[in-house]
Amino acid sequence: MAWFKVSKEGSMKDGDLSKVNIEGKDILIMKDKGKYYATSCYCTHENYDLSEGFLDDGNLICPNHFAMFKPQDGSVVQNPEGSGDIPSLKTYHTKIENGDLMVEV
Ligand code: FES
Repeated sequence: MAWFKVSKEGSMKDGDLSKVNIEGKDILIMKDKGKYYATSCYCTHENYDLSEGFLDDGNLICPNHFAMFKPQDGSVVQNPEGSGDIPSLKTYHTKIENGDLMVEV
């Protein structure tokens, strides 16, 4: 595991989602209420690209079948429409250091 610089702090607004590639992995960065979160970028239902999703009341929504995940720990808040249980997203630590947003991968 190592820390990687993703962007300057302040380059994202609350509610923004951004896909970054670190060490060959696509990672989703989110900002909600001033805090940054990082998860795997593809829905655990049918691999939809979650950077095309959105945050609603602090939860990450997959726009394909509306699965809902908690950005803090990747857990499933709501399964997709018409589906059984799906796995959680993987999460990554974030921190701000010297004005840069860093992710541990
Ligand atoms: S692909 Fe995300 S809910 Fe189905």
